[in-house]
Amino acid sequence: MPDYSFARYLSAKKTVDDRALNRVVWKTLQEQLQQLPMCHVLEVGAGAGTMAERVADWHLFNGPMIYTGIDTNIHSIQLARHHAKTRTHSDLQVHFQVADALTWQPAQPVDLIIANAFMDLVHFPTAMDHFKHILRPAGFFYFTITFDGVTMLEPTIDTLIDTKIEALYHADMDARQNGTTGGSYAGRRLLQYVLQRADVDVLAAGASDWIVYPNSAGYEHDEAYFLHFIIDTMDQALSGHPELDDDLLAEWVQTRHSQIDNGALIYIAHQIDLLGQFT
Ligand SMILES: C[S@@+](CC[C@H](N)C(=O)[O-])C[C@H]1O[C@@H](n2cnc3c(N)ncnc32)[C@H](O)[C@@H]1O
Repeated sequence: MPDYSFARYLSAKKTVDDRALNRVVWKTLQEQLQQLPMCHVLEVGAGAGTMAERVADWHLFNGPMIYTGIDTNIHSIQLARHHAKTRTHSDLQVHFQVADALTWQPAQPVDLIIANAFMDLVHFPTAMDHFKHILRPAGFFYFTITFDGVTMLEPTIDTLIDTKIEALYHADMDARQNGTTGGSYAGRRLLQYVLQRADVDVLAAGASDWIVYPNSAGYEHDEAYFLHFIIDTMDQALSGHPELDDDLLAEWVQTRHSQIDNGALIYIAHQIDLLGQFT
């Protein structure tokens, strides 16, 4: 079995996220930021820094920006620092450091907190209370690519087995973290949670589904690797599961990897983007 690399997965995920990010939510953020003379951004769970690259390349903000990315994984932060060198210029200072998103305090309040593919990993009230504390009054939060309960793999291998594997995979997300995260429906639960808070306005929300498919030349960029990593993640989560026969899972996993190698697999994951502001 190949040893899949998380760093390469994060890098391969970039083009998938590029297509998926909800443009209405992005544009609303862009418009809100225009009122600021300068923008201080904190990205939590920044991984290898692909969102910082996007913020620079897609011109999220046209004035001076200080962008700080934090992550608990030192290897990701080293990669992010390496990539940031090409994006830093007089109007954009990018820094990355190892820190925990739920406790770290910036030297001064920030205007915007970004979290990409991160909010499904944390306890919402703990994260939101901390973010409120480190944002300036009326600061923004932009939470993107939060998984929301739908994994679709086509073509079908066997309807009953596919459905069972999807259900057990989602149940595993719910069971991990002892219910302290949003689990497999984190996207809608986060939206609901934020709407219920009296100190928050939701400015925009929309779908940001991953849709990965082959064209006539196969998968674009490094997206075949991204798919192999996803299938391996499902394999890791479910191997040894008491409700699933090991041989049956192994055969299913092998068939999915072969479908990727043959340019036949389509993968869709439903996710939600959310932009809000503390009042
Ligand atoms: C799914 S990855 C997403 C990375 C990146 N945002 C992206 O989309 O490419 C989640 C990241 O959150 C980081 N992480 C998890 N818990 C964290 C915490 N409490 N504080 C900071 N980073 C954390 C992990 O190390 C990982 O890099």
